[in-house]
Amino acid sequence: VMVFIPRDAVALGLGADRVAAAVARSAETRGLDIRIVRTGSRGMLWLEPLVEVATPEGRIAYGPVRPGDVESLFDAGLAEGGAHRLRIGRPEEHPYLARQQRLTFGRCGIVDPVSVEDYRAHGGYRGLERALAVEPVAVVDAVKASGLRGRGGAGFPTGIKWNTVMLAEADQKYVVCNADEGDSGTFADRMLMEGDPFTLIEGMTIAAVATGATRGYIYLRSEYPQAYETLKAAIAAGERAGVLGADILGSGRSFHLEVRLGAGAYICGEETSLLESLEGRRGIVRAKPPIPALKGLFGKPTLVNNVLSFAAVPWILEHGGQAYADYGMGRSLGTLPIQLAGNVRQGGLIELAFGITVREVIEEFGLGTASGRPVRAVQVGGPLGAYFPDALLDTPLDYEAFAAKKGLVGHGGIVVFDDTVDMARQARFAFEFCAIESCGKCTPCRIGAVRGRETMDRVIAGEDAQANLALVADLCEVMTDGSLCAMGGLTPVPVMSAITHFPEDFDRSRPLPL
Ligand code: NAI
Ligand code: SF4
Repeated sequence: VMVFIPRDAVALGLGADRVAAAVARSAETRGLDIRIVRTGSRGMLWLEPLVEVATPEGRIAYGPVRPGDVESLFDAGLAEGGAHRLRIGRPEEHPYLARQQRLTFGRCGIVDPVSVEDYRAHGGYRGLERALAVEPVAVVDAVKASGLRGRGGAGFPTGIKWNTVMLAEADQKYVVCNADEGDSGTFADRMLMEGDPFTLIEGMTIAAVATGATRGYIYLRSEYPQAYETLKAAIAAGERAGVLGADILGSGRSFHLEVRLGAGAYICGEETSLLESLEGRRGIVRAKPPIPALKGLFGKPTLVNNVLSFAAVPWILEHGGQAYADYGMGRSLGTLPIQLAGNVRQGGLIELAFGITVREVIEEFGLGTASGRPVRAVQVGGPLGAYFPDALLDTPLDYEAFAAKKGLVGHGGIVVFDDTVDMARQARFAFEFCAIESCGKCTPCRIGAVRGRETMDRVIAGEDAQANLALVADLCEVMTDGSLCAMGGLTPVPVMSAITHFPEDFDRSRPLPL
């Protein structure tokens, strides 16, 4: 009997290792022959640890399982998918999963993350095989046709970036994966790396084949130790299986891949400071141009993409660019792995075609707030994203629709707040975050963030709100126009959205509503 128990960081935090130990112990005392496979997460985080068992009717899931539930699960006939109060049934039929369009996350939570064999048994490496059979330009054309845009947040057309690196002439080119997922409320990169790292590795290998790069680096944040171990094990397995290294899939092409750990700086998620850090220096932003696609790591043409951008590519190569472009709306094509977090009942990973509204995500997937109180503010796109009030929740997840409302889709993180939130404190937090994480290279950001925090402190203390908010608006204009990178340039987004949409919280002469 095969039993699947996640070793995703969330599941581990909720006791998955203790559950796995209890399952092994119970099976042994009962003389049952079981094999435990440690998988990634399906992304229904409120059900973790989600234990699944293979039955003739497919996998049957139970969750959330605590170690103390294991005996009763065996009593109920766990091995046969028996009835129990924690029984979820077939996970893919759960409404949360059934409504999704899982192209990138199709294998996550299902496969053994470090087994090339299992990955291939679930359709893996068909994209790379396709890529090796055609000219590099055909691979780039497929990515262009898919309409894929940078999933790290900026939404730059991926195919055009690949084209630039492909055409660049150099003795050495690099492929670099930005896995420094620093946005608050985001976890899609982590989930994929822990649950299905070969989708990322295959995507990077296809990118290497297309651009002519022979070396690749995954720049991973040190806060993800499980992802680090999984990636290292997957790369070693890939080398043994001949899908990485000197002769990939017998093609004569080589691609050497390594994981490098960051040291906890948010700014190292910005591509040029990431490259500085990879080269062994302090993570300080470089001025662009030159763009990394032409002059990146060690001065060589370098393709820098986010985890989710690379991970979208195997599906695109396997099914064709047009098939991917059939999902989505406007110029936002394909699917977006949405991460629903904050004050919400059912948080998790929701991969859907662009176009669903924020309200639909919160109501239909999240089932409202965890506190049961009304939703008051929703921040989309990480700590540099806008706070939307109820009136803007019908905005579809689409890069252009969000930009039109002065917001950003970013990396697809949605953080929900109920009516106890104090938006003046959230505005202050944006400045504080920027003050802590600024790399210090340019004045508007380095000094502006500190002055902004001080000014917000005066607003919160009730000192002349009108004059101080005018000062904040002025400062935000300078930061937007004068900052060298998105850190200082986008900090005004959460600040000004809070002031614009929730003005009542900034007048401290009145008591707060709650
Ligand atoms: P950007 O717009 O400057 O660049 C986007 C990408 O396109 C870069 O890789 C750039 O090198 C490339 N590019 C630009 N022109 C090009 C050309 N002509 N040919 C080839 N490539 C070209 O944006 P940036 O600064 O890279 O990212 C900002 C975004 O990052 C924000 O909008 C935010 O949403 C997101 N972000 C994501 C975080 C996360 O944890 N995933 C954290 C913080 C911010
Ligand atoms: Fe550094 Fe901030 Fe300037 Fe970006 S905006 S270069 S983080 S000081």
